[in-house]
Amino acid sequence: MTLLELIRGRLHLSGTKEGCGIGECGACTVLLDGKAVTACLVLAVEADGATVETIEGEANDGELSLLQKAFVEMGAVQCGFCTPGMIMSARGLLRRNPHPTDEEIVEAMAGNLCRCTGYEAILAAVRVAAAGGARD
Ligand code: FES
Ligand code: FES
Repeated sequence: MTLLELIRGRLHLSGTKEGCGIGECGACTVLLDGKAVTACLVLAVEADGATVETIEGEANDGELSLLQKAFVEMGAVQCGFCTPGMIMSARGLLRRNPHPTDEEIVEAMAGNLCRCTGYEAILAAVRVAAAGGARD
């Protein structure tokens, strides 16, 4: 069983998306002990004893995180399928590097594909979130 199957199929947390299933789209990105990973390529057993963070942990009592708000405000969400994975990759980046350069943002998000936005709005959202101090 993959970590993605565990999250979606057993734990019924449907925020983490399944796109390609082979590690190429980033839709299934979660944080494993703080590091962004594609959950379709991680075995559930490999996460035994680790901390797994999914998109469900972003909002606090129903209030969107600063990072989520930045995505909405910058128009970085269209169909939304890539968004949970995008946000988890951005979250991993901002945790380890609260003030990333544009190059560092591009590098951190390079494994996440989006068919709708053309990426500029997504990169702008991460920039805005970083400027607003959206570390956690
Ligand atoms: S579903 Fe995991 S990378 Fe595409
Ligand atoms: S918003 Fe549709 S795939 Fe990114």
